Amino acid sequence: MKRFLSGITPSGDGSLHIGNYLGMVRQSIELARTNETYLMIADLHGLTTIQDKKQLRHNIETLILNELALLKGFLTKEEFSKVVFFRQSDVPMHTECQSILNNVTPLGLLKRAHAYKDKLQKDVMEDDINVGLFSYPMLMASDILLYQPDLVPVGKDQKQHIEITRDIAERFNKIFKKQVFKLPEPFIPEEVAVVFGTDGKRKMSKSLGNIISIFESEDVIRKQVNGAFTDPTRKHATDKGHIEGNMVFVYLDFFGQKEKVDELKKSYVEGKVGDVEVKKYLFDSLMTFFAPARKAYEELKNNPTLVKEILQNGQAGAMAIATKTMESAREAIGLTTLYSFFEYSKVSSRGPLEDRGQQGGPLHTITIDDFAKVEIRVGKVLEAKNKEGSEKLIRLVVDIGLVEMGLIGPIGNIRQIGNEQHEIRVIFTGVRGFGYTPENFLGKQFFFITNLAYRKMMDEESQGMILAVDPPSQSASGGHGGVGKPIFISAEGMPVGAKIR
Ligand code: TRP
Repeated sequence: MKRFLSGITPSGDGSLHIGNYLGMVRQSIELARTNETYLMIADLHGLTTIQDKKQLRHNIETLILNELALLKGFLTKEEFSKVVFFRQSDVPMHTECQSILNNVTPLGLLKRAHAYKDKLQKDVMEDDINVGLFSYPMLMASDILLYQPDLVPVGKDQKQHIEITRDIAERFNKIFKKQVFKLPEPFIPEEVAVVFGTDGKRKMSKSLGNIISIFESEDVIRKQVNGAFTDPTRKHATDKGHIEGNMVFVYLDFFGQKEKVDELKKSYVEGKVGDVEVKKYLFDSLMTFFAPARKAYEELKNNPTLVKEILQNGQAGAMAIATKTMESAREAIGLTTLYSFFEYSKVSSRGPLEDRGQQGGPLHTITIDDFAKVEIRVGKVLEAKNKEGSEKLIRLVVDIGLVEMGLIGPIGNIRQIGNEQHEIRVIFTGVRGFGYTPENFLGKQFFFITNLAYRKMMDEESQGMILAVDPPSQSASGGHGGVGKPIFISAEGMPVGAKIR
């Protein structure tokens, strides 16, 4: 299993057509089945050409839905849930890294970049070229290097960018004498087709009006298919037809059923089938082929919360790696000092106890830093009683140690214990069904989770949670599920209020 990363810029109108699909997208989907996959919407890159708020927003939203629908439509649920799908601008390390890499990049390297040279050849004076376009390769280098990928699948037009990335990574590692960045391999998949548009002359592109859409209405797609270039020498359906350069057959080779397509080709050459019929077959084939993706598109479009969740999980997954790389880079260049206190984990956009990856998101593990955000303190049970009117609950009054004035202040009451001010919490546990009685807890010490949002329990609030673990499983298939009697880990002899570090 290798790690690969790919990015798509929300240019044009943000929508993907069959040319995009047959180009990079199909490749990414195949790679995603068996590799660790990072797919990025390169929205900051979009700024080089789009400087209109409404348009950029529209393009980003459209591209997210299009790309996700294709992934969801063609991958299994399991495969889909492992993809780290994120937006470049949701991960601030991209621009930070770019800023650092600028300093190991010679001007000459960027002046040789195709995108810049092409621009120069066109309509613009050198002095008017946007610096964003000029340093586009630096941002792309950051996109790549932050994730330490093995492979970056790109089309031929992007090969130079990967070479620049390698060059910069090598310079950085050499100058700062530390292998911070891995040199990525360009991976130009053989089959990545440059697909011509329906005009049969130029690469399929929205701006040339020669596309076949994936997510438009059936009517729009039917019209696009009917407008495809076929065989101009043919006047009647009974004339012998040509397959070469006939776009309908070019597309059918990808989307039709081989036997049926071979049969149609034969008939076409013999003058036994007309354009109308082959075009109808192409339309039907496209509808069948993209049916799962079109369905996923509707689902996603109608469920913005789900899309947001996918992006949040993606951000967390991306940050987990980008953070490590930047910590290493900061250290290598000398930003880490005697007075350093900055930690990326503290600026992460996610709250401490939010559920990650619960919806089958990409994260199946959390880091020890994440775990440390769960505050666990040693508490001493001062009172324990069955909760009146409940068959399960035992109500504990717990001393969780010295009062701490955090951001929200103490949740429980303050009580003088000796000459110290302690915080006292009411905490419920629902374990009478397992044979536990208040006496099992009274006067004893256990571990409590103390930074949970408190929960309403009957007429009171539970201001924390006692830590319990599942019993060792009895049967091989037992394991998790909370069937057996939970065990409370004793914290006897430990200082009340002590936290896990
Ligand atoms: N520049 C790429 C393109 O135009 C898009 C892109 C941005 C990208 N960042 C990337 C591709 C990182 C691969 C890896 O197609």
